[in-house]
Amino acid sequence: MKVLVIGPGGREHAIVRSLLADPNVSEVHAAPGNAGIGKLVPTYAIDGNDPDAVAALATKLGVDLVVVGPEAPLAAGVSDAVRAAGIPVFGPSKAAAQLEASKAFAKQVMAEAGVPTAMARVASTAEEAADALDTFGAPYVVKDDGLAAGKGVVVTNNRDEALAHAQSCFDAGGSVVIEEFLDGPEVSVFVLCDGRNTVALSPAQDFKRIFDNDEGPNTGGMGAYTPLEWAPEGLVQEVIERVAQPTVNEMAHRGTPFVGVLFVGLALTSRGTRVIEFNVRFGDPETQAVLARLKTPLGALLLAAAKGELDKAEELRWSRDTAVAVVVASENYPDTPRTGDRIRGLKKVDELEGVHVIHAGTKLDEEGKVVSAGGRVLAVVALGTDLVEARERAYDGVELVQLEGGQFRTDIGRKAARGEIKVMAPSTGTLPVTKTKA
Ligand code: AMP
Ligand code: GLY
Repeated sequence: MKVLVIGPGGREHAIVRSLLADPNVSEVHAAPGNAGIGKLVPTYAIDGNDPDAVAALATKLGVDLVVVGPEAPLAAGVSDAVRAAGIPVFGPSKAAAQLEASKAFAKQVMAEAGVPTAMARVASTAEEAADALDTFGAPYVVKDDGLAAGKGVVVTNNRDEALAHAQSCFDAGGSVVIEEFLDGPEVSVFVLCDGRNTVALSPAQDFKRIFDNDEGPNTGGMGAYTPLEWAPEGLVQEVIERVAQPTVNEMAHRGTPFVGVLFVGLALTSRGTRVIEFNVRFGDPETQAVLARLKTPLGALLLAAAKGELDKAEELRWSRDTAVAVVVASENYPDTPRTGDRIRGLKKVDELEGVHVIHAGTKLDEEGKVVSAGGRVLAVVALGTDLVEARERAYDGVELVQLEGGQFRTDIGRKAARGEIKVMAPSTGTLPVTKTKA
């Protein structure tokens, strides 16, 4: 089968890489892609957010499946246009993508479906915001209601800062969702959905803040690892039964069935598992780590989801290895990233055992050299027999990457490797839960 992958980032590079390893897949095309994707498959310089342009390219190439990577094209209706052209597409409709595009919509669906999440209130004036902040108390959680690439959320103990973030969203013509603070470790679970059926991938953990020890502003994600040895037994089952299946049922009931990945962002709090957010696409950089372990052919799986046939798909098989992805970002990310710098050393990274480079914000300059072209530039992904070995290999790779002003976190997966992550049992609030491999 022939597949077209839409998107410019690391997630899409990882998807293309996995599709190329699927014996069912004869051709992969990508748009717009990046320098790393361009080395593997033909790329097309179209606007991936333009529904008509994507549908026209998919038709011209005669592909059997379109996989939409990022949220922006989904929210713009790219899937609808491709479906209308009669081509199966892995990615939700514009209507179903509201689960990510509007945090207020997501909260409504969660309430209808009985999904456990943080208590929340929508505010559109300074008065409403102040009232909601005082209802829930510190730490304060204020979220821009629209798409903000993971950067629209402020979590702070400072009430003035919380109010100022709300005001900046109001000034931009938007509204905010203000929530109770959720304690406990965060987990990302990707659930493949075909409108009816759900299949969960192996959980991963992401590192959202720019600096070590979770300091500094939120980013799109600075690294990830999987699986989570410390996760409570039955977590994936719980996510399917209490979160994903009820949500998929509710979306079908509303006449806007969900096809694609439901990305469930969870907090394992002292009061139980709570949904922090939904996204409607694979996570970046978690996907770089998760797909590195997936042995089931990806193309066949995504096609089954696109066609409503996940119940007939092959059962998932995973490598026993642990995968770690460490993001290298440009100077000044997540503010205004510096771009256009040469990136050297990537060949040497790819030569390391169990290590590969996934490109994100890269492009070829006029001389055909790889240069930085975005905030998150690339990820070094490593497999190892355990988290300690995978981390060592990933950081050996990162050390070989030469990028002026490049930044990376040194603590991706470190706490877990040291056994320092504790999940509090909801019943007692203090006892660590028994752990098994998730
Ligand atoms: P979101 O865009 O909703 O995923 O939020 C980005 C990040 O902000 C999350 O990954 C959390 O680290 C943090 N966050 C969001 N909501 C909450 C909450 N209710 N309690 C604590 N932290 C939160
Ligand atoms: N890494 C989190 C996200 O993709 O939103």
